[in-house]
Amino acid sequence: MTTTSTDIPTTGGTSHKQLAAWVEEVAALTTPDEIVWIDGSQEEYDRLCGELVDAGTFVKLDDAKKPNSYWCASDPLDVARVEDRTYICTKDEDGAGFTNNWMAPDQMKTEMEALYSGCMKGRTMYVIPFVMGHLDADSPMYGVELSDSAYVVTNMRIMARIGADVLKQMEDTDADFVRCLHSVGAPLEPGQQDVAWPCNETKYISHFPEERTIWSFGSGYGGNALLGKKCYALRIASAVAHDEGWMAEHMLILKLTSPEGKSYNIAAAFPSACGKTNLAMLEPTIDGWKAEMVGDDIAWMRFGPDGRLYAVNPEFGLFGVAPGTGWSTNSNAMQTIEKGNSIFTNVARTKDGDVWWEGATDEKPAELIDWKGNPWTPESSEKAAHPNARFTTPAKQCPMIAPEYDNPNGVPIDAILFGGRRATTIPLVYQSRDWNHGTFVGATLSSETTAAAAGAVGVVRRDPMAMLPFIGYSATDYIQHWINIGKDNDESKLPKIFGVNWFRKSDDGKFLWPGFGDNSRVLKWICDRLEGKVEADEAPIGLLPKAEDIDVTGLDMSADEVAASLAYDAEAWNKELPMIEEWLAKFGDKLPTELSEQLATLKKNVQN
Ligand code: GDP
Ligand code: PGA
Ligand code: MN
Ligand code: MN
Repeated sequence: MTTTSTDIPTTGGTSHKQLAAWVEEVAALTTPDEIVWIDGSQEEYDRLCGELVDAGTFVKLDDAKKPNSYWCASDPLDVARVEDRTYICTKDEDGAGFTNNWMAPDQMKTEMEALYSGCMKGRTMYVIPFVMGHLDADSPMYGVELSDSAYVVTNMRIMARIGADVLKQMEDTDADFVRCLHSVGAPLEPGQQDVAWPCNETKYISHFPEERTIWSFGSGYGGNALLGKKCYALRIASAVAHDEGWMAEHMLILKLTSPEGKSYNIAAAFPSACGKTNLAMLEPTIDGWKAEMVGDDIAWMRFGPDGRLYAVNPEFGLFGVAPGTGWSTNSNAMQTIEKGNSIFTNVARTKDGDVWWEGATDEKPAELIDWKGNPWTPESSEKAAHPNARFTTPAKQCPMIAPEYDNPNGVPIDAILFGGRRATTIPLVYQSRDWNHGTFVGATLSSETTAAAAGAVGVVRRDPMAMLPFIGYSATDYIQHWINIGKDNDESKLPKIFGVNWFRKSDDGKFLWPGFGDNSRVLKWICDRLEGKVEADEAPIGLLPKAEDIDVTGLDMSADEVAASLAYDAEAWNKELPMIEEWLAKFGDKLPTELSEQLATLKKNVQN
């Protein structure tokens, strides 16, 4: 082991001058005991997992049940993204827009430097070179995360392409990279015993989009700490995309092939914990249709030479919601996990070295150790797993991953879906009349809040394009960007836009639509619309399916139930209108005229 100029022992180094200088600068500020350069190898991963087992952070699962996999529980106060501690630090407050928390970059840096000062004492600082998207992309999107958490390193290795290959290419091309600094914020005094999940009550998830920099402090939770994902691939990338004329969106990418052999690529934006991973792993319940996953959370979309919009999944793994994922709802996810190489956070575990969560099996196990480490039986009043418990697993293990996943140029998108969790009002599916109307459907998207973010659950809020927590700049500029995409491009080549809602409920509180694999029936109608095979009914909110055009073969639902899930509810929409108006009023005079025109049309239609 050599030492840096700050006299801190280090396992490696780099010929990349800016990277070397930044690593030294951060080490001088945070004063770790050593610096470890991450090469991304299996040996290194196994060694770090072993260290996490020794530290009491990981429990190794039984190799016969989940090969090479680990269970882990977070601090009970560090279980989700912290939106109220997430900041966009642009020089101008306007740059962050009305939806984001803002602080001036200098002020944020002063505050955070005080927190970072000496914060890695007694710990190791890991240097994780990574690339979001493909290493052989036209312009690879590099990042380097400096983190004092081995949990972060092991999860980053599943979620992103990391390690020596990436560093070498960065060095060879003297590439620019996004600086991602992360600390759990829990320095150790000499001899001080560490806890299983170190974190800090004070948390900051800060973004400096003008400098392409991320500073995260105090949390180890995925969305706050695996900085390649939400922080880079959505917040920073959306700001870059705005400047460069492309799109970074909170969307799954699904390839669907019809019985006639024609393939369609569908991108869908649903808020966190509203069904992206499940739809991405769809198992069609209608004959002859085949589904393949390209991505389950993030889509980077750029225009191809043919004028079409192409999407790539910049990630390498899946960070999925465990509860509700089971053999009867999503067997593809279960098969992915079964192959092992996974990390389970905040699920329950069985005494014989396996994991469990609500919905994993229809029958509850007789006894478990819950996510907080307490004994659990089916009589227990508390849930065995935290509602936002997660599995981290390699995307390549998914049995239905599309070969196009490996194509750095991505897949041409035929349709975009916007959906949320709404017990009322929003019908199962409807089509927008054109790009601007589709942008309106996205801009006014709403959903009940979920456990994926800290705070109240079940409250309806507007979540434009499911990007409310992820727009790395001003929401007004973001919506304008969508309108401009429509203006600057040949609309006939743009994806068609649809609204969906799998979560509508009957008066007695039951889901009207079976969801999961049966969502293939909705996608079939969407493909039929793309082909011009079926007509649709003009409704006040857009184009609604004729009930007979939804394939319900083999579905255990009465015609009335199908009709109820598809219906336009005039009374509910009259109540929805003022909420939409109130939301759009927040954009002030910066609301694109195209959207005020859409609002006027909706008002006229609904009130008629
Ligand atoms: P993501 O966070 O957007 O990727 O959402 P997931 O696909 O992980 O799903 C979040 C939760 O919603 C899980 O508990 C799922 O079981 C549940 N879910 C997903 N799709 C459906 C559906 O079509 N119908 C119903 N009722 N629940 C769903
Ligand atoms: P999700 O991803 O969208 O799959 O829930 C994590 C998140 O958005 O926090
Ligand atoms: Mn997400
Ligand atoms: Mn997901």
